Amino acid sequence: MSTPDYLSQSPEVAARFAKLKQRPVVLELDHLSREFMGTGGPVTALRDLSFAVHRREFICVIGPSGCGKSTLIRMLAGLDSPSSGRVLLDGRPVTAPGPDRGMVFQGYTLFPWLNVLRNVMFGLEMQGRTGAAAEADARQWLDLVGLSKFADAYPHQLSGGMKQRVAIARALAPNPRVLLMDEPFGALDAQTRAQMQAHLLEIWRNVDVTILFITHDLDEAVLLADRILVLKANPGELQEIIEVPVPRPRRIDQLTTPEFQATRRRLDELIHPKIHAPSERLPIVRLTQAGDDVE
Ligand SMILES: Nc1ncnc2c1ncn2[C@@H]1O[C@H](COP(=O)(O)OP(=O)(O)O)[C@@H](O)[C@H]1O
Ligand SMILES: [Mg+2]
Repeated sequence: MSTPDYLSQSPEVAARFAKLKQRPVVLELDHLSREFMGTGGPVTALRDLSFAVHRREFICVIGPSGCGKSTLIRMLAGLDSPSSGRVLLDGRPVTAPGPDRGMVFQGYTLFPWLNVLRNVMFGLEMQGRTGAAAEADARQWLDLVGLSKFADAYPHQLSGGMKQRVAIARALAPNPRVLLMDEPFGALDAQTRAQMQAHLLEIWRNVDVTILFITHDLDEAVLLADRILVLKANPGELQEIIEVPVPRPRRIDQLTTPEFQATRRRLDELIHPKIHAPSERLPIVRLTQAGDDVE
């Protein structure tokens, strides 16, 4: 059975993306570049990246290790500054971290000395919101991530998946415009990871937030994203933008559909380019570069 080319969009899919692109732009990357001074000279972590993210869009960023994914998300968060170009949030330049951007990282970043409720209240308190109203708010977010019963628990009493759910609640509590996620499920086992993907999709359906999600996992990218930014390394550059044709709401059993498989195959081609008959004379450096650590 032949599977469709992911580029040959059906009229319904084309219409879906045309509509998505009519929504207001929340986040704009405008000719974004970042160079670092490495030991062997300057390293271009990211070069000339331009892209507009629309309201309530779910963007995944994928690419080999070292292609600038974390550098990108740090600049969006305002934790690092571009060497040239700009990041605009609702049309205003990003220059520092702010409550309009929530962050979730791979490492568990909850405060171990605060219980779950106080962890979620943390961001609210940073905004000067305290007392009963802040607590009620935090409890609502815990409810949304399915952890109401664990409000009094401490992080060490939770599983990895539960910790990340708290981290998501904490990031969303201040009502950010954008949720920035850097491989948030990377440390979880496959089954927990699949559950977290379903959870996140459900949360996103209920919350007016735009998500930018970095991943190494091809299936994860196709399952979650409206559009996937594929980056390449050395220097980190935009290689392709993939519009995912898989209909929403997404479910794990869509992994086997022709649209899903065609999109995944295209991603695979981009990220794992074929190595032609490696000979013994091929310098080892070529081999290691071609074999990135993606999966
Ligand atoms: N603070 C830094 N100083 C020097 N080089 C850096 C720094 N941060 C990142 N780099 C370099 O920039 C490139 C991109 O890194 P990074 O954004 O972490 O990639 P990714 O998250 O895609 O694996 C790499 O070559 C890395 O070594
Ligand atoms: Mg990284």
